[in-house]
Amino acid sequence: MQKQYSLAHSPEFLAQIVQFKADIVINSPGRVNLIGEHTDYNNGFVMPTAIDKTIQFHLKKNGSESSCSISSLNYDTTYNFDLNTTNLKDAEWTHYIIGVVEEIKNLGKTLAGFDCLMLSNLPMGAGISSSAALECGLAMGINELFNLKLTKLEIVKLSQLAEHNYVGTKCGIMDQFASVMSEENHVIKLDCESLEYEMLPFAIEPYKLLLLNTNVSHSLATSEYNTRREECEKGVALLQKWLPQINSLRNVSLEQLKKYKSEFDPTIYGRCEYVVEENLRVTQAATALENNDLNTFGKLMYASHEGLKNKYEVSCKELDFLTEFSKDNESILGCRMMGGGFGGCTINLIHQDAIDTYIESAKKAYFKKFNLNLTAFTAMPSNGGERV
Ligand code: GLA
Repeated sequence: MQKQYSLAHSPEFLAQIVQFKADIVINSPGRVNLIGEHTDYNNGFVMPTAIDKTIQFHLKKNGSESSCSISSLNYDTTYNFDLNTTNLKDAEWTHYIIGVVEEIKNLGKTLAGFDCLMLSNLPMGAGISSSAALECGLAMGINELFNLKLTKLEIVKLSQLAEHNYVGTKCGIMDQFASVMSEENHVIKLDCESLEYEMLPFAIEPYKLLLLNTNVSHSLATSEYNTRREECEKGVALLQKWLPQINSLRNVSLEQLKKYKSEFDPTIYGRCEYVVEENLRVTQAATALENNDLNTFGKLMYASHEGLKNKYEVSCKELDFLTEFSKDNESILGCRMMGGGFGGCTINLIHQDAIDTYIESAKKAYFKKFNLNLTAFTAMPSNGGERV
């Protein structure tokens, strides 16, 4: 019971939750990604895990045929809709809700009216996938509430489709997969082609994962994300002239790519080279983790950032500043931008004794440079979404 209410930030929230009398409560986490950025939609490798920051969903049937309401306690707002007449005219967060409902209906499942209360300690727009937490948590809650018998993988896939078809981001599968499938104290090495995965033990003491949120979210994020995807597809189409057997950058070696470099537009080449190199880095990082070689792991994180900045061009000055700043601190083994880019967080591999002083110095330097506040939090590899 204690766990169920652990996200209630204030007595008012607690009172509303108690009064609501949910049938089902789901905790749905955000995620971090250790390495393997922008590789998922290229059928490559990623290394994410869910974290101990969640959106909590309280759901109950309301006895109606098709009237639903979803309230966010944090944002003090309610969205009312009818299961049979959903539309995309309202605020963007409601598109995720509609997307999940519609994609569940597309699987031939029958729903009825329900009410839902949400509360969250997961920062939005910070690159830690509050969107996947929203989609997957709602899908899990509806699944449990109506006993739909959807598998975890079906929940992952329908949530990804909700984002493609109702939000407009042609995202890969990493975020939803991590939000649903993760296990405490492990990171997932996921093959985004076959969806086979390994749970790698993540025992990094005395190091910790520290996230520094730039608190910027540049408007390019969605449009450039989709553009990167198209650029990679162009690269594959070109390579298919000589390598007709390939269907993604996952199937291309660095040697093959370099051989045809002169045929490429330089921008497209940079995108492809980054992806092929990043896939190699994920495999090297998994080996480093198995060998408890955090120095190598950290260097791979820095190399990932360089690629994202210079070849894939999805970083921004705030993320670059924080990554550079971390290099002066020998308690930090690695740092990189995380997620889609153009804002959000850096992820830092830092000695636990250095965390407090580092946060203070990074905050000061960041404020001095950008006149912006930095927020910081540590993240623990945690279980994927679950009923509490
Ligand atoms: C976003 C997407 C993911 C992935 C990352 C970049 O988080 O939702 O699918 O592509 O960007 O690695």
